[in-house]
Amino acid sequence: MKIPVLLDCDPGHDDVMAILLAAQHLDLKGLTTVSGNAPLAQTTYNTRYTVELAGITHIPIAAGASHPMVHTVDFTGDIHGESGLDGPVMHEPEVAIRSDHAVDFIHEVVDQTDGVHIIATGMLTNIALVLRRYPGIHSKIASICLMGGSLTHGNVTPVAEFNIWADPEAAHVVFTSGISIKMVGLNVTRQVSAIPNIRQDIRDIGSHTAVAVADMLDFFSAQLEKLYGLPGASMHDPLAVVPLIDDRILTFQPMHVVIELAGTHTYGMTVCDYRERKNEDGTPAGKPPNADVAVSVDVDRFWALFLDTLKHYP
Ligand code: BDR
Ligand code: CA
Repeated sequence: MKIPVLLDCDPGHDDVMAILLAAQHLDLKGLTTVSGNAPLAQTTYNTRYTVELAGITHIPIAAGASHPMVHTVDFTGDIHGESGLDGPVMHEPEVAIRSDHAVDFIHEVVDQTDGVHIIATGMLTNIALVLRRYPGIHSKIASICLMGGSLTHGNVTPVAEFNIWADPEAAHVVFTSGISIKMVGLNVTRQVSAIPNIRQDIRDIGSHTAVAVADMLDFFSAQLEKLYGLPGASMHDPLAVVPLIDDRILTFQPMHVVIELAGTHTYGMTVCDYRERKNEDGTPAGKPPNADVAVSVDVDRFWALFLDTLKHYP
């Protein structure tokens, strides 16, 4: 039996890779969209394009939040290009989205399905709004597996990662919800780069989905090489899906994580208690863990899974 999941995303090149993994290996009940790599209308358009590209138009799509809960962010970033998904030649998608808001759709699915896991690969606004609008629903969410934050450095600021920085107050709501959380941050996702020979292996699969993915990764890689000196595109978002598919790719440590909401230089930082400090009597010091934080990744195992997954698409 496949594990039931919802995927909340802001495609975004790496969000597309997350969708492809989730749709192949999990019982993907729906895709919900949020602003981030581009404005909401564009991330929703990119999601519609993706499901048509991969022949998975049976998966419902609902659009969600266009703005973070508190602060103001300009969602016309440079990393993913003007469309949020520059690289492939995109066709105009025809598939319709649902008429209800992502927040209500997420609530409906969680309420009606036992043991749904939420995967979040964008800012956490939709998830926080669900938790606020439907108090009590948290007990029905099996876990939240999110790409966000970092144990080490940030990307959008020296210490903050984009998805958390884009809506830190929403992240605070999620991290204080009591729901089981897996945090997959930059400290591991930046270790998995789509270097040229991997992109060629993907292109060589030859299907239209694989070629479009290779085109996406070529563009995304060029941006990350230019702007951050990385050897290729970081596979951030698909790594938030893999714990539900194969628990040998990422390893986690339980930690107490708080979201910095007040710091002048640290707004949006994930402050992770990594000290493993003990009291005199041997009991753990500090606050009890509220998240499992990814600390290492098996890069080869990830690529084997990803390449094999792509071979199943048309
Ligand atoms: C995250 O930000 C976005 O650019 C990516 O899609 C990923 O979710 C990485 O910081
Ligand atoms: Ca994303």
